[in-house]
Amino acid sequence: MIERSSRLKDVMKTPSGHDVIARLLYSFGLDENIVTKTPLGNITIGALQKLSFGKLNDASIDALLRLLNSLDEEAAEEEEIPVKEAWWKEAVFYQVYPRSFSDSNHDGIGDIRGIVSRLDHIKNLGVDAIWCCPFYDSPNADNGYDIRDYKKIMDEFGTMEDVEELISECHRRDLKIIIDLVMNHTSDEHEWFRKALKGDRKYRDYYIWRKQPNNWTSFFSGSAWKYFEEQKEYALHLFAEKQMDLNWDNPKVRKEMYDIAAYWLEKGADGFRLDVVSFISKSEGLPDGDPTIGSLVSFTGIEHYFHGPHLDEYLREFHENCLKKYDAYTVGECPGNGLMMSRMITGDDRNELTQLFSFDHIENPGKIRMDVYDFDLRKMIPEIVRWQTRYSNHCWPTVFFNNHDVPRMCSKIDHEGKHHDAICKLLVTMQMTLKGTPYIYQGDEIGMSDYPFESIEDYRDIEAFNYYQEQLEKGMSEKEILKRLLYGSRDHARTPMQWNDSQYAGFSDHEPWLKVNPNHTEINVETEEKDDNSILHFYRRMIRLRKDNPALIYGSFEPIRTGKDIFAYYRQKDGRKFMIIMNLTDKERDYPFTVHEKLISSNYGVYSNKLRAYEANVFEIE
Ligand code: GLC
Ligand code: CA
Repeated sequence: MIERSSRLKDVMKTPSGHDVIARLLYSFGLDENIVTKTPLGNITIGALQKLSFGKLNDASIDALLRLLNSLDEEAAEEEEIPVKEAWWKEAVFYQVYPRSFSDSNHDGIGDIRGIVSRLDHIKNLGVDAIWCCPFYDSPNADNGYDIRDYKKIMDEFGTMEDVEELISECHRRDLKIIIDLVMNHTSDEHEWFRKALKGDRKYRDYYIWRKQPNNWTSFFSGSAWKYFEEQKEYALHLFAEKQMDLNWDNPKVRKEMYDIAAYWLEKGADGFRLDVVSFISKSEGLPDGDPTIGSLVSFTGIEHYFHGPHLDEYLREFHENCLKKYDAYTVGECPGNGLMMSRMITGDDRNELTQLFSFDHIENPGKIRMDVYDFDLRKMIPEIVRWQTRYSNHCWPTVFFNNHDVPRMCSKIDHEGKHHDAICKLLVTMQMTLKGTPYIYQGDEIGMSDYPFESIEDYRDIEAFNYYQEQLEKGMSEKEILKRLLYGSRDHARTPMQWNDSQYAGFSDHEPWLKVNPNHTEINVETEEKDDNSILHFYRRMIRLRKDNPALIYGSFEPIRTGKDIFAYYRQKDGRKFMIIMNLTDKERDYPFTVHEKLISSNYGVYSNKLRAYEANVFEIE
């Protein structure tokens, strides 16, 4: 039982205690080391109020205690076991967002045949697998994350035959393909929901209904509940009001989902990226969320579903009843799960998921995505180092900085693009030399960056529109809203892939659904192919370096410098040893020690006796 008088360092010994406290501290702008590595660990939960700079009140401390006491998993054993080898530990993944990758029939919208036509580009990077974002039939309230029919393809994207061809063309090139499965919610146009609205009791129980809404908020602004006249009740939608949350406590829903997954595995998919899969189980009775905790993470209610009471049980069931038979790979999107709870989800002794994405490292402590700030790489390092050293050999990290839901990391660090080339190359140096499975997002490999959005008309994302509306109503000036969107919008990641310098960047001959970044005249595949110093060639070399050196895959990770401006570490295995050293700032820095080893990769090309802005070097130690 955790009480007000419990000491933080003791609370942090259980997985949930660790993750919840770490996340809270993070939202106050503090790193957890302040509790785990200093005498501050002796302070009590009750005294946390002081550390919160007045953000937590009495009621939120009570809510916190309820949360901590409801998530009572045993502390994970710290055991030394050897790493087991697996294809996905050695693989580099490439994420494709179909709408924005390549348009084969020139209607301005990317499609499946477009992806097929570009598979050689992907293969030539040296990657091993692709993650393809949703292509299922959908009314596109959220670009396909609102599925109307799981066994049909979105008209704009092509046909089932096209997807079958995509799968076989991947396999022909020895590329694996994982597809994006949305199991937390369906479109309100899915036949299950339509039947539910018509009063079919069976299907009504597929969703989550209440006579009165609770105070949970949606990720896309406003209440998470929508009133349906037909049922005279509210239905839950954690995302857009057309994305209805499924009732996973209903065994029939779970069975449907396992059948859908099996359908795609039979078609040859090698596995799934599972959309917000950590949200599928909600606290019984759907209690109100604590407004203070909500305001710290910006979504009220999240403590009731980020790792709900039956999550681990349902994931095990999914594994047992479906995944196991196909030896399918899964990577779950698990926002809010920190290091220790992630160990519960991905331990190879747990039979839940293969890997997951956790997100704290991609915003600086105390910041949320829409905040106007320059990302400070230095503040990411403690988080990275913890995942490298304390995730246990039962688990394997994913290493990523971008996806379709975040602005481009190179721009977040350097909005003016002064050190664009060095930063892009530093990021991939880190990805290819850290322990874990790298996930490259389309366009990273050429250094695509944020779009200079000016007006709300330029955006396409429902999140952006809802945010704009909500903030206007709350009284924020339009100028301020646009500035925040410019820093945080997901549309930055979704502008068309830049293949060449032509009008629509070789993505299409037709005006695309979202504008092409004007910088495509310089940043594009064709131009970079011709320049050996380009980001594209650098990506290929870094991927090659990793593939050729098991030490960079399975080798130990030994931090050398993790504080302040320099990040340096060793990777070593079977007598091969690498030292990676980077300058995390835009200022020249001295080497913290003398290095006379062999330089085998540098984002500056040649050695200098100082570390230049964002310099990232790999040395081989002989
Ligand atoms: C995930 C997806 C995101 C989508 C949301 C709702 O976060 O990555 O694009 O909007 O889930 O499905
Ligand atoms: Ca098209």
